[in-house]
Amino acid sequence: MNTEITVHVDGASRRLTVDTRTTLLDALRERLGVTSPKKGCDHGQCGACTVLSGGQRVLSCLTLAVTQDGAQVVTAEGLAAEAATADGQHVGSLHPVQQAFIDCDALQCGYCTPGQVVSAVGMLDEFARGWPSAVTRGTGAPRLDRAEVAERMSGNLCRCAAYVNIVPAVQQAAAASTARPSTGTGTGVAG
Ligand code: FES
Ligand code: FES
Repeated sequence: MNTEITVHVDGASRRLTVDTRTTLLDALRERLGVTSPKKGCDHGQCGACTVLSGGQRVLSCLTLAVTQDGAQVVTAEGLAAEAATADGQHVGSLHPVQQAFIDCDALQCGYCTPGQVVSAVGMLDEFARGWPSAVTRGTGAPRLDRAEVAERMSGNLCRCAAYVNIVPAVQQAAAASTARPSTGTGTGVAG
């Protein structure tokens, strides 16, 4: 059975007809040409397909496209903001998480990286909202130490084992978010 849906992907409204069994990942990659979400396992195990839907991270390989009718979906491609220069030219502006992954050399082959970056963006928002994790102790504001980052990013696997640099990248991005004005409740960062 086919049905027509409209999905807002990285700021663009995209209308398409999909088989109701089509996953969001296949719709993005095969139908819309949005290839930054990767198909690592297609079974909800690796996190390479992570996107934001309505601001929350979801595994697009486990999400049916029909459930995203009218949704706002953001992939790693959509995180970079476009800023216009005075002469009318457009220059890309990387998201702080993207910049942090570059600064910290937080990748090797790069296959998992779009999912890692999107997941980190969603995770930092969850953290700023005060959501606890399985390793959060006590009732005070948690610190984004190594254990917190590792637990909160545990849904994203890296076969190159670049974790030693991914964790500092997430912490750098968290610190950058804290330094910016009006970014929610603030983010405690600890080494
Ligand atoms: S491809 Fe979706 S979790 Fe691995
Ligand atoms: S950088 Fe290669 S899988 Fe993560």
